[in-house]
Amino acid sequence: MKYGRVDITAPEQCPPEGRLPDAGPRLPAEHLREVFYRMGLDDKEIVALSGAHTLGRSRPDRSGWGKPETKYTKDGPGEPGGQSWTAEWLKFDNSYFKDIKEQRDQELLVLPTDAALFDDPSFKVYAEKYAEDQEAFFKDYAEAHAKLSNLGAKFDPPEGFSLDDDKGAVATEEKAVADPAPTSDTNGAGPQPEPFVAAKYSYKKRELSDTMK
Ligand code: HEM
Repeated sequence: MKYGRVDITAPEQCPPEGRLPDAGPRLPAEHLREVFYRMGLDDKEIVALSGAHTLGRSRPDRSGWGKPETKYTKDGPGEPGGQSWTAEWLKFDNSYFKDIKEQRDQELLVLPTDAALFDDPSFKVYAEKYAEDQEAFFKDYAEAHAKLSNLGAKFDPPEGFSLDDDKGAVATEEKAVADPAPTSDTNGAGPQPEPFVAAKYSYKKRELSDTMK
């Protein structure tokens, strides 16, 4: 995972509306390819990324898809209701693929674009594989998710940085030295590089957990 994404600063820098995939297009497999190929993602990555629907729910009052409530969502957690793709919709595993394949539980959601993963011969190879092999799904999902997240993003430093090695810290320090902005408390010597503390950037600004210290 690469850190250092730079936020946009104004609404006009957002991509145009209406480019997200449609859940019920006339030709679901073709539509998925049209949307994801444009971003340089292939069939394997489309199927792996669709596995994100292992988590979460769909709500008819938001997207128009799904039931208002099922036995899996009536008690929350969070605001009750909606229809999930999987029974344990807060647990990330390969149950999405197993459930679509079996289609035995009417309480679980299958969007037309989800069903396409087992209907289309090329998608099906990966969907079958992920239903059988959770580790293969985890590996391919992680790679595809990182690729999707990094698409079109700007990083500072440009190559981004990792928390697992010192390279990123070095790149950040070099940039601060090369591009000093005088401040009153450093007497014009430029800002001192600040150590990266992930919790500072989380929106709730919680304290670091023990595992992060
Ligand atoms: C393949 C094409 C996709 C289609 C057609 C699609 C469609 C949808 C729809 C209709 C919902 C329900 C929204 C609502 O009613 O609130 C939804 C939810 C969701 N989608 Fe997708 N999606 C797609 C791909 C993805 C990808 C690539 C990801 C992430 C990598 C993703 C992650 C999620 C998650 C986590 C939810 C649940 C949100 C919640 O619980 O509030 N989806 N999607």
